[in-house]
Amino acid sequence: MSTAIVTGAAGGLGGRMAERLAEAGHELLLVDLDPGVEVVAAAQGARAVVADLTKAEGVAAVVEAAGGEVAVLVNNAGITRDARATKMEEGAFRAVIEINLVAAIRLTLALEDHFVDGAAVVNMSSRASLGNFGQANYSASKAGLVGFGRSLAQHWAPRVRVNAVAPSLVDTPMTQAMPPEVLDKLIAKIPAGRIGSPDDVAGVVAFLASEAASYITGQVIYVCGGRSVAP
Ligand SMILES: NC(=O)c1ccc[n+]([C@@H]2O[C@H](COP(=O)([O-])OP(=O)(O)OC[C@H]3O[C@@H](n4cnc5c(N)ncnc54)[C@H](O)[C@@H]3O)[C@@H](O)[C@H]2O)c1
Repeated sequence: MSTAIVTGAAGGLGGRMAERLAEAGHELLLVDLDPGVEVVAAAQGARAVVADLTKAEGVAAVVEAAGGEVAVLVNNAGITRDARATKMEEGAFRAVIEINLVAAIRLTLALEDHFVDGAAVVNMSSRASLGNFGQANYSASKAGLVGFGRSLAQHWAPRVRVNAVAPSLVDTPMTQAMPPEVLDKLIAKIPAGRIGSPDDVAGVVAFLASEAASYITGQVIYVCGGRSVAP
């Protein structure tokens, strides 16, 4: 049976993606820094690796656990450290770029020989890749993922497809940590009139990972209720 790896699987989006990929018949390997990933995995009869993906040994542990039949990799682990760009400390830039971008690149490249023919990589970008006030670090990391994926899609075609999903606001612990008045103002800018659900995003990830998307590579799908086309 083919393996689907989901990073950041203890989080709001990753857990739902894991469920959708399991429904599609994949054996799951769930990865997170948070040991809570073991509970998520146990609930689905999946394997878990507790690892810090910013560390070389964390990436190595995932590669070792992956085996040689990887069909899907979802680079979903990510953080925010928001501040005005000119006030942002270098540590906040580095921390966000390290996990959101560098770790995803390292893990993807380390798995090169583990992917089966027809495998799919899905990078969790964000509508913020188009630019967000107070998120210069996060926007740069998410735009970087798009550039990485578009380049790799050409390099690895036709053996492995590489795409990105770019959500706007999704109802997860990441957004639940925001002050409610800030969140409400941001939701008001979404043409669809509501915050996204983890299911909205997980369904698109499962589609991109599936045979139905076999002619799609190097693309970014905005799952953002139209926010990317709004002023
Ligand atoms: N929630 C949103 O509105 C939203 C919008 C656009 C994009 N995204 C992206 O979707 C992804 C998932 O977000 P979420 O909302 O589920 O967030 P979340 O905080 O619920 O989950 C993120 C997970 O990543 C894990 N993680 C962080 N650093 C790690 C590290 N060094 N090694 C391993 N795991 C690590 C965390 O432990 C956490 O479980 C992120 O990449 C995020 O940037 C989220």
